[in-house]
Amino acid sequence: MCGIFGYVGKKNPINVCMQGLLHLEYRGYDSTGIGGIHNGKIEICKSEGKLANLKKKLDLPMLELAIAHTRWATHGKVNHANAHPLLDASGSIALIHNGIIENYQELKENLIKEGIPFSSETDSEVVVNLIAKFYKGDLAQAIHKALGLLKGIFAFLVIHKDHPQEIIATAQDCPLSIGCNIDKSESMISSDPNTFQGDSYDIFFLKEKEIARVTSGCVEIFDQHLKSIRKRSERLEIEQQAPTKNGFEHFMLKEIFEQPSTIRRALLGRFNQGIFFEELQLSNVFFKSIENLWILGCGTSSHAGVLGTYLMEDLARFPSSVEIASEARYRNPILSKKTLVIAVSQSGETADLLAATREAQKYGCKTLGICNVKNSTLVRETSGVIFLRAGPEISVCSTKAFTAQLTVFILLSLYFANLRNTQIDVGAIYKELLTIPAHIEQILERQEEIQKIAKKYAKFDDFIFLGRRYMLPTAQESALKLKEISYANANSYAAGELKHGPIALLGPNFPVIAFCANRQTRAKIASNLMEVKARQSPIFAIAPVEFTEMEAIADDVFYVPSTIDPLAPFSSAVVGQLFAYYIAKERGSDIDQPRNLAKSVTVE
Ligand code: F6R
Repeated sequence: MCGIFGYVGKKNPINVCMQGLLHLEYRGYDSTGIGGIHNGKIEICKSEGKLANLKKKLDLPMLELAIAHTRWATHGKVNHANAHPLLDASGSIALIHNGIIENYQELKENLIKEGIPFSSETDSEVVVNLIAKFYKGDLAQAIHKALGLLKGIFAFLVIHKDHPQEIIATAQDCPLSIGCNIDKSESMISSDPNTFQGDSYDIFFLKEKEIARVTSGCVEIFDQHLKSIRKRSERLEIEQQAPTKNGFEHFMLKEIFEQPSTIRRALLGRFNQGIFFEELQLSNVFFKSIENLWILGCGTSSHAGVLGTYLMEDLARFPSSVEIASEARYRNPILSKKTLVIAVSQSGETADLLAATREAQKYGCKTLGICNVKNSTLVRETSGVIFLRAGPEISVCSTKAFTAQLTVFILLSLYFANLRNTQIDVGAIYKELLTIPAHIEQILERQEEIQKIAKKYAKFDDFIFLGRRYMLPTAQESALKLKEISYANANSYAAGELKHGPIALLGPNFPVIAFCANRQTRAKIASNLMEVKARQSPIFAIAPVEFTEMEAIADDVFYVPSTIDPLAPFSSAVVGQLFAYYIAKERGSDIDQPRNLAKSVTVE
């Protein structure tokens, strides 16, 4: 993962880089560091932990340019030595890296044999020493030679003490963008162009081992053979707002509360007799030619994808399947030009998802991105895109993106239902969908009830989340929330699977969180919960208002507004989010930036 940022131009490079890191912290927060050139010498300051720690100890002189890094540890512990920037053995070259060098062990052994000492456990230090080995006065040339030996995915920024005007950038399968402002007085380089500060930029996206020599307001780009190339830039308007919590204690809570409005925004202008996505550049004729769907995602986005397949099946009678992207990329799928691949992602930067999508493109499939972040790699690489319109999601734990993904999947299923002339009443379902934001508002007004229940359950370390049909992915998503932010062991199962193994775990210290809002399977889950009750596990049930039998079965019940099964995940997921939030709060964990995680997972 990791976020990299660089600046050369008329402003103070340290200030610009610190601001850049602030917006890149979502990519990892194990350590941060900043380095640059001052009077022909490389100066570096780095710190373990979050950016606030670096800010406290920042003691750099005025730099001529700067590179900055926020780390999500892959190779080597979280400590000062492994923080970036990393220096070569002579202290002349500094490098920051995002990605993984797969053959670093072998390269390191060779360098050690040649007498090069190492001071970190990182794969990245191998690269900076390789560059130093090949350096003969031209940094770009040395990097080009080093690239010939590297296997893996990466984006690097490199500086040399004798070249105080230039940052050299290169990338292979990791996002890296270079922006020059319109008056050509400064250049920024970042893992994410949305972190550029200012209004509009000419932006170059590097790929396939292209190398860029970046100076103030100017970029020279070379292809993988080190031949100078003219690359087209894109003019981007950056809407950058400093993230604020708006009075909420955490971004997660703020984002949970935003859901009525983010769902309304996801619906806005997309239904007028039929379903319509303004930004979608794929025609009805194309969609009519499609015979099946393959939906890809990771984590929360994969849970939305599973619900997507249920919706396609139920509402549009459309054959569709779903796969976790990290598995999909190594499968041998049966795809054709008549398969539409739908890639679901909040960030649009998840490495496994991008790789799986690229694999599918090799079969000649068209790809449709469902994505929140404009200017992301997924948006650039897919044949068409539908935006979530959820606004920036800052909390590592995804909430509003999930319900926006669900909204888009419902609209898309209704679109296909129309196209395929299924018998369902599209207008009636859309009308019911319009009531969902108000349902969520009712739940949010009763958050204290959930907080009270969460307090009771916060003492447990093990949980099983159960659901059937639409409530299964909802239970899985809710268990993921709890795991991520409270570090409790929360497993999730189809309620019918309980008796095939997991029931052995149950007992008074193993609570069950039951998602019961799926009408079709109501009687079935009631029986499953009787089996749980017989094993004395405490039961917290989330059930629709009319399901009053739950009172006699569960220890605690939270009633949600009633709706049709395909729409039931919304309210129940929000209860799951609040339950996880209040348990984490009770347990005192770092809710917005939980340990070991990052918002955007850009390594495999
Ligand atoms: C969970 C969570 C992760 C992400 C996953 C995919 O709360 O945030 O599981 O959903 O890393 O990320 P995107 O959607 O950005 O591809």
